[in-house]
Amino acid sequence: MRAWRIASRSRLHGRLVNSPAFSGSSVYETGRDVADILHNGKDGETVSATGWVRSVRKQKRVAFAAISDGSTVDSLQAVMSPEDAAKLSHGTAVEFAGEWKASVGSKQSHELQVSATEVLGENDAESNPLQPKYQTPEFLRSIPHLRPRIASNAIILRLRSQLIASLTDFFNKQDFVQCHTPIITSSDCEGAGEVFTISSNDPKNTTEQDGATAETPVEHFFKTPKYLTVSAQLHLEALAQAVSKVWTLSPTFRAEQSDTARHLSEFYMLEAEMCFTSDLNDIMDLVENMMRTAVLTLQKRPVRAELLTAKGTAPKEEREDGKSITADMLQQRWDGIASLDWPRITYAEAIDLLKDAQTSGSATFAFDPSYRSGLQAEHERYVASNVGKGKPVFVTDYPRLQKPFYMPPSMSTKNSKGSPDTVACFDLLVPDLCELAGGSIREHRSEELLGAMREKGIAGKDLEWYQDLRKYGSVPHGGFGLGFDRLICYLAGITNVRDVVAFPRWYGRADC
Ligand code: 4AD
Ligand code: MG
Repeated sequence: MRAWRIASRSRLHGRLVNSPAFSGSSVYETGRDVADILHNGKDGETVSATGWVRSVRKQKRVAFAAISDGSTVDSLQAVMSPEDAAKLSHGTAVEFAGEWKASVGSKQSHELQVSATEVLGENDAESNPLQPKYQTPEFLRSIPHLRPRIASNAIILRLRSQLIASLTDFFNKQDFVQCHTPIITSSDCEGAGEVFTISSNDPKNTTEQDGATAETPVEHFFKTPKYLTVSAQLHLEALAQAVSKVWTLSPTFRAEQSDTARHLSEFYMLEAEMCFTSDLNDIMDLVENMMRTAVLTLQKRPVRAELLTAKGTAPKEEREDGKSITADMLQQRWDGIASLDWPRITYAEAIDLLKDAQTSGSATFAFDPSYRSGLQAEHERYVASNVGKGKPVFVTDYPRLQKPFYMPPSMSTKNSKGSPDTVACFDLLVPDLCELAGGSIREHRSEELLGAMREKGIAGKDLEWYQDLRKYGSVPHGGFGLGFDRLICYLAGITNVRDVVAFPRWYGRADC
């Protein structure tokens, strides 16, 4: 990439050095991006800028092209002769060189008075599916290879990257060790049966072998069936017993057929495990501090202001679709995460609250809230909005029957607010997205863990290694998993998780 930039610059440089406008020593500073030129460009200096044309206006004597290289949401205005602009259209890749001068127009302080233009990548404007007008999210999802070029999507790429950097910094400062856990696993950590089974395309490894019958045995590549991971948790627990505090941000796969704005078949989960605690508050504190620190860090970066500006200047069609998040709402989300003391209520308290809301008529639900049947998305939304009042809400101590085998009884843990039939766990809820993260203390006692596994029907060979962890120096510990793409949705004010993942996969769709 770098080599390409330098090569392309030297091509233009070669031509330009012969031009009187460019005789002199430091004609080009390689590596200056559009953001740098816009923020630090000095009046009268000679600059060269590379990027893609976002818009071009051709008048009789002069032409204007706005170019962007994705380094900022703002574009750089280049002013040139109509002849120079002849080959430019929305999407053309170009390099311009010229003088950085005060602009006559009011939309920008400076503009590039172009004296040399090179088309680096031609563009077939007519057939380009990406057009400089409003295009629906549904249509854009059908061209995932092109839609990142839209300025508001480029912000999300930068947000994701900077969020990862600030979370990495947070964990590093807290002495958590970043680990890589396997993608191919032998167990279904959550026990929900939503796994993708892997096979090679060797006929022996499939039922599609020649002459195969229903009885023909399938030879598994790894001898027994293996799956794409649904969570790194169990492996992280093993690693935590080596270095006490671990975390990972890794791909996760779920074969759920949920056609919702919150579910993907492939997504990133941020997970952490911490030894030497049996207090659920420690895990919730970790989640709260982690998210707050990341948001406070990002608040100081241009990306936040860019997100707010993008919300404020979104196309009319987007602002009026009834689902759109306004700049004010987005600001409240960031403020909510940045604030201290997020509410923590128990599952039982949440159910009481929902029942009261229904009885008093202040809310109506399609599903009656009940202790047994669990929180539906509509219930989670109500709790998130009404209890959180802008802050995320922890709901703790769910009934044992609703949760996986590795969660211990609430009463066996420290500072428990649960009851005899609940487990020491939490879900973190936010408005619209509902569940952003889930965590728990882990059952560290060998006999109790085995009992819980037997009860759920999963005791056996595949998880023997996990039981081993309880035999050799097992200590109280806990952890959590956060839906990273959902967090991006929440921070970017995007309503559908399919629109914050560059190449989203969901039930029936994995386009490219
Ligand atoms: O609640 P989940 O299923 O928890 C676990 O897998 C734990 N083993 C994690 C742990 O404790 N280490 O998933 C964690 C989070 C959810 O809260 C949700 O935000 C996200 O992962 N998530 C999904 N995000 C997008 N698409 C899906 N299909 C998701 N399923 C879960
Ligand atoms: Mg969960």
